[in-house]
Parts: sequence; C-alpha cells; structure tokens
Amino acid sequence: MNRTFVICKPDAVERGLVGEIIRRIESEGLRLVAVELRQLDDVILAQHYEEHVAKPFYPELVSFMSRSPAVLLVVEDLDFKGSSSEREVFSIVRSMMGHTDPEQADEGTIRGDLAFAMPENLVHGSDSIESADREIRLFFPDLLS
Ligand code: RTP
Ligand code: MG
Repeated sequence: MNRTFVICKPDAVERGLVGEIIRRIESEGLRLVAVELRQLDDVILAQHYEEHVAKPFYPELVSFMSRSPAVLLVVEDLDFKGSSSEREVFSIVRSMMGHTDPEQADEGTIRGDLAFAMPENLVHGSDSIESADREIRLFFPDLLS
C-alpha cells in the first residue's frame, strides 16, 4: 500500500488554501491519484469518523465538515519500494499536517503555519495503512489500484 487519503477540509476551501496544501504534498515527492471537490454529508462522515461518533466533539465536527464542500485527495508515493526502512506515505502526510490542535502544531507543518484553532485544522490524513485502505475504498470505491 503506497497510497493515503487526504481531505482539504471546508476551511481550506473557504480560505483558498487548497493549492498551498497540494503544493506542499507535491513538494514532498508525492503525486495525486484522485482529486474531487465534494459536499460531505452526515452519512459518509459517520462512516469516515466512526471512531469519534460517540465523542462529545462529534456534533461540532460534523457541522464543520459538512458546512461547505471539501477537496478529497488520494496521494501516492511513486518512489516507494516497500522496504521496512522507508516511511509509509500516510506517515509522510501525517508529519506534514502537524498536531491535531493548531495551537500545538509545530512551525513548518500545515496546521502550525496556516490554521488557528480547533476544530478548524485544514486537513485530514489517514492515520495508518489500514485507515488509508478503508478510507480510499469509502470515498473512491471505483478507483483502480
Ligand atoms: P483527522 O482525523 O481529521 O485527520 O485529525 P486527527 O487524526 O489529527 O485528529 P482526530 O483525533 O482523529 O480528530 C478528528 C478531528 O475532529 C476534530 N476534533 N475536535 N474539539 C475537540 O476536542 C476536537 N477533537 C478533535 C478535529 O477537526 C480533528 O481533526
Ligand atoms: Mg484522525
């Protein structure tokens, strides 16, 4: 698995930061496999964020993620050789994103440089190989491998 799933969240689209996020991803040597502007709804968000459905912040998260369209990306590492010493593509993107809370995110990360406060942290990235696989199937069921 050399692909991961990324969402440029509604705040990124509204603030005109999608290009900057894609620029940073491409600058890491990663390449786009799928790109789509899509309005997300309660049904797909409950599947996507299934581990958070019962949490206190979930209603605010759904309201934020469905308030305007998001840009969905599937991203690939073309140079990935499958060696255990190489970083998985999901982990490259997670490092670029920075801490979940923008106030705790390091300088040089997307959230640290460009976001201000929870829950508006601009990007989602799959947090494991298994999550990447599940999320790509959920959002892009027809994508060829
Ligand atoms: P994501 O899933 O969106 O990539 O973010 P993450 O892994 O860094 O963080 P996660 O714990 O999975 O939380 C998902 C998203 O929910 C919002 N959130 N709000 N108010 C809160 O306490 C709170 N906690 C999480 C954020 O938008 C977070 O990215
Ligand atoms: Mg998460």
